[in-house]
Amino acid sequence: MNTTNVGTSSRTPFKHWLFNAHLGQMIGATSTGKTPTNRAVKVFDLCAGDGLDTYGECSSSPSIIRKHMTSEIRGGYLESRVSHLYERESAAFNSLLEKHGDCPQMNLHHQDSREIDLSGLVSDRDSSFVYADPNNIDQLPITQKMVNDLTPLTLYLMTLGCNVAGLKRLSVEARLRWFQMIEMLTETVRGHHDVQLIWLNRDSSQWAYLACVPRKWSEATMEKSMMAGKKMWKDGVQGLTIKRDGMAAFKTIIRQLFLTKEENQNQ
Ligand SMILES: C[S@@+](CC[C@H](N)C(=O)[O-])C[C@H]1O[C@@H](n2cnc3c(N)ncnc32)[C@H](O)[C@@H]1O
Repeated sequence: MNTTNVGTSSRTPFKHWLFNAHLGQMIGATSTGKTPTNRAVKVFDLCAGDGLDTYGECSSSPSIIRKHMTSEIRGGYLESRVSHLYERESAAFNSLLEKHGDCPQMNLHHQDSREIDLSGLVSDRDSSFVYADPNNIDQLPITQKMVNDLTPLTLYLMTLGCNVAGLKRLSVEARLRWFQMIEMLTETVRGHHDVQLIWLNRDSSQWAYLACVPRKWSEATMEKSMMAGKKMWKDGVQGLTIKRDGMAAFKTIIRQLFLTKEENQNQ
């Protein structure tokens, strides 16, 4: 296993920190029996990748999922933890299979996740989490049907931006697809949820994350994320939430992140 210490030079450790923190918090809270969910945890990784831990232990989403599927949990409230991981590229899927095919709580699918029918896999009271981490804008795995099928207790984390050659070099039409996806996801934010936007400061590829969290946890979760981001990304991170800062502020930042100054004035 490669245990290179990437320090603050890579965007990936913070991404995995967020995923691990958000998923861990959901499963931890569900296991207390004090959340509105039933006793089943369901996790969906729509862009699983090859499962290789390039930056050390638990530095891939499949390994993070495995940890949370198999960790010892006290209390006995949770009855099941199941995950579904989707990878459409054959080489990456084979690697994923080799690494995690032995874990009974991980269902590995060699499939395009845009085709899945979430409604058949999750019931309304399941404690479920959707993770979408595409390589670029052409891989957006979120469809309108999927958004419609998100149950009232589904949380999510999505990677936005992430164009390695420099986000604003992409055509404005391509970048507008991020806006459409964000709009789909934020059109209706349930009363008990909040949606957070967290972005890396001064990042030419403009990585950012959109996370749906229970409203009750939003402030504390955001605070922890800011502290972790400060340590993990050279220029630190910033964040806002729809419930705390308002939709107008949220939209302003999205425009600043994904449009050039001129485009922002003209759009
Ligand atoms: C950024 S990598 C994933 C990294 C992984 N989530 C991690 O954190 O370790 C993106 C992967 O998602 C896969 N992918 C992108 N869109 C997909 C889709 N619609 N369905 C299935 N796999 C997809 C790509 O083939 C690629 O291997």
